[in-house]
Amino acid sequence: MFVAVLLLLVTLSVQGGNGEEKAEAQRPGHVSVVIVGATGDLAKRYLWQGFFEQYVKQVSGGNTFSFYGGGQSPASTATPVFFEIVQAVSCSKETSPDRCAVLKEQFLRLAEYRQLKTLEDYQELAKNIEKELQQEGIPEAGRLFYLSVPAFAYADIAEKINNSCRPASGAWLRVVLEKPFGHDFRSAQLLASQLGSSLKDEEMFRIDHYLGKQVVAKILPFRVENKKYLDPIWNKHHIERVEIVLKETLDVKGRIPFYDQYGVIRDVMQNHLTEVMTLLTMRLPVNMSSTEEVLQNKLQIFSNLLPIGKNQAVTGQYQAYKTSVQQEMNKTNDHISLTPTFAAVLVHIDEAQYEGVPIILISGKMLDERVGYARILFKNTVFCLQNHNSVHCKPKQIVFHFGHGQLKYPAILVSKNLFKPVLKEGQWKEVTEHTDVDVLGLPISDYYVQTPSENREAYSELISQIFAGRKNSFISAENLLASWGLWTPLLTSLAGSFPRIYPGGADNGDMLDLRVKGKDISYSSEVVIISADQMSGTSAKDFQVMQGKFRSAVMVSAWSEELVERLAADIQASAEAAVREGGVFHLALSGGSSPLALFHRLALHHFSFPWRDTHVWMVDERCVPPTELESNFHSLHDHLLQHVRIPYFNIHPMPVQLNQRLCVEEDAGALLYEKEVRKLVNGSIFHFVLLGVGYDGHTASLFPDSKVSELGDRLVALTESPVKPHQRMSLTFSAINQARTVALLVMGKGKHELITQLSRMKDNPDKWPVTGVKPDDGKLVWYIDYDALLG
Ligand SMILES: *[C@@H]1O[C@H](CO)[C@@H](O)[C@H](O)[C@H]1NC(C)=O
Ligand SMILES: *[C@@H]1O[C@H](CO)[C@@H](O)[C@H](O)[C@H]1NC(C)=O
Ligand SMILES: *[C@@H]1O[C@H](CO)[C@@H](O)[C@H](O)[C@H]1NC(C)=O
Ligand SMILES: *[C@@H]1O[C@H](CO)[C@@H](O)[C@H](O)[C@H]1NC(C)=O
Repeated sequence: MFVAVLLLLVTLSVQGGNGEEKAEAQRPGHVSVVIVGATGDLAKRYLWQGFFEQYVKQVSGGNTFSFYGGGQSPASTATPVFFEIVQAVSCSKETSPDRCAVLKEQFLRLAEYRQLKTLEDYQELAKNIEKELQQEGIPEAGRLFYLSVPAFAYADIAEKINNSCRPASGAWLRVVLEKPFGHDFRSAQLLASQLGSSLKDEEMFRIDHYLGKQVVAKILPFRVENKKYLDPIWNKHHIERVEIVLKETLDVKGRIPFYDQYGVIRDVMQNHLTEVMTLLTMRLPVNMSSTEEVLQNKLQIFSNLLPIGKNQAVTGQYQAYKTSVQQEMNKTNDHISLTPTFAAVLVHIDEAQYEGVPIILISGKMLDERVGYARILFKNTVFCLQNHNSVHCKPKQIVFHFGHGQLKYPAILVSKNLFKPVLKEGQWKEVTEHTDVDVLGLPISDYYVQTPSENREAYSELISQIFAGRKNSFISAENLLASWGLWTPLLTSLAGSFPRIYPGGADNGDMLDLRVKGKDISYSSEVVIISADQMSGTSAKDFQVMQGKFRSAVMVSAWSEELVERLAADIQASAEAAVREGGVFHLALSGGSSPLALFHRLALHHFSFPWRDTHVWMVDERCVPPTELESNFHSLHDHLLQHVRIPYFNIHPMPVQLNQRLCVEEDAGALLYEKEVRKLVNGSIFHFVLLGVGYDGHTASLFPDSKVSELGDRLVALTESPVKPHQRMSLTFSAINQARTVALLVMGKGKHELITQLSRMKDNPDKWPVTGVKPDDGKLVWYIDYDALLG
């Protein structure tokens, strides 16, 4: 292959290399670009075009290039196909036909197809690159690998690249990856760690092409440029809701084997729509060119998102999907797929700025139109009595219109009753001549409209950033895992639920309209078209809450979700009764993982709960600082307390840390806690104590063989656990058994064996501490889910 130092092109000097990119000082030299999956659909549609555009820009900066298309097929068969694809690249409008022909010819001469399958193939490639560098006597700038292949191949290719294709020091290595980056939190983590053993984080560029869309890329700059208008209104007092919408008209025919494993939430919400949401809500970086700050602020949003419960999502599936699944996956016609092709999800950010603002993410296949947008709808406090067509009476909104739809072009629209946005001349222009079109309830003439001066493909934009080594618009590993951390619990909770079946296109009518009420989202219309076969096999769900006896105490049993619902309702009833009676409710909560679902449920419905009059006590605590994840208080804080309006002085963590040390007998932390209980809780009688049970039969932090019966009248004690951290502080049986209500929560298949044993066991608190839970005057209720009860 031929490496040209393209002096010719320098004199032709294609304009357009923009100043920002030059700011990133890079050593000029030779760049080898390798697209693995060179003849695939993505490469054909976007990648070669994007690299051609970059090539045209960059040669003027003194770089030279070679382009390798890699694939599984041998060169003899793939080369003709390859050249046909590469030949199809096109020049920008300003380029004259003659100049374009020259550029394309040069580009083609620099391109070559190679089979890239085995380690030897990669070694050969590396040899070839080095040979060229030597022959031409030019320094190397870097090597760029674009992996346009299915994700399961990433780890293997990355390893081969690390083993054989690393450039000498001084030159960069950049490896570009396309979604999907995993299927859920764990698989994403696994993939990240596999890739991490071959590539350094700064070498990986995870693409989300949405971030290359011009309007999406403009969200942050727009927020900065219009800060003086937005600062006063970009908050819960002014924003009615935020909608982030990606509607498609196409179905997924032909892609079912892939799609059926993913569905709409994994396919576009976890990535594209989540990214847009973070751009809209993240704290503005002080320094927009600091990648670190931009990514850090993005990450910050994730830690402030409230968990998404099942009531914050609705799903749908277009009617013909089922048949396509049966055909493409060779299934019989009683096969049902529950994969959603439509979803609407309600997200809340737990920050003072956005508290209570509904953020709704919506996407679906087979809808009425193809369009993508983010709309910020503001509250309009003006209402008009007569002149309803005045813009003051109409919705106040900002629309980031990503493309397509009625408008057809990408644009940012600000309704004229808000403000006239700042226009940075050059890359964006104002549109004043309009065709007659409505955008989200307003005629276009009621908006200030800005559009990019020149339309650019998302991939071209991102490829140029890869060349510049700028990572602002790429997904960091942390960001990716944080996003999966948000979505995975929802995906799990939706796993068995039936999507609403919709006919597709205009026929959907109002079937997919939504209602947001409080913290829940639902379909606004009740009509549900479910064919008979979609109904079959649901009998398990008919099994609702059941009441019985366990160890001669009351037992409530249900599927986990209903059980948690019931427990939450019982706690609330107990709270309301206590507050009515004495103005205060004393609730003692235990640590561990079992109560987390309950905490989420309580957090999500916190307005109706009398938190103002509730005191929260700890049943037990590990002897670690409260800043550690292992701390029960830490977990209680993260999952419950920070989401509810409880006065600070009603919260009573256990004093495990005193005098800069942890649980030392002389510091008398247990006694201190006991005094606090005696001081505030009438008769030391808690209204409600929530306990779990461990596999070894421990409850609270009262473990087998730790002579719990010797604790006597003390209410609080230091105890020892057989597992780390060994030291604990715990309420004693005296404290627990005085309570008015004690709830024992047991959930999960893993506890089935334990429940079976307990059902037969005689009381023996030294061996099975939980059998020592016997309220003196109060009542004991076992909450056991069907998994634990029935196995
Ligand atoms: C790459 O391979 C080398 C050995 O060939 C290994 O030492 C290194 O850990 C691998 N990973 C990275 C990120 O360099
Ligand atoms: C902003 O960040 C860039 C990239 O990290 C850095 O080069 C520049 O000095 C920073 N500017 C300021 C004002 O801190
Ligand atoms: C379905 O069956 C046909 C014919 O038996 C076979 O050619 C095809 O590979 C099968 N497809 C899948 C996805 O199993
Ligand atoms: C404390 O409890 C006792 C009964 O246990 C009750 O008679 C008394 O009124 C309670 N005191 C307050 C202040 O609620």
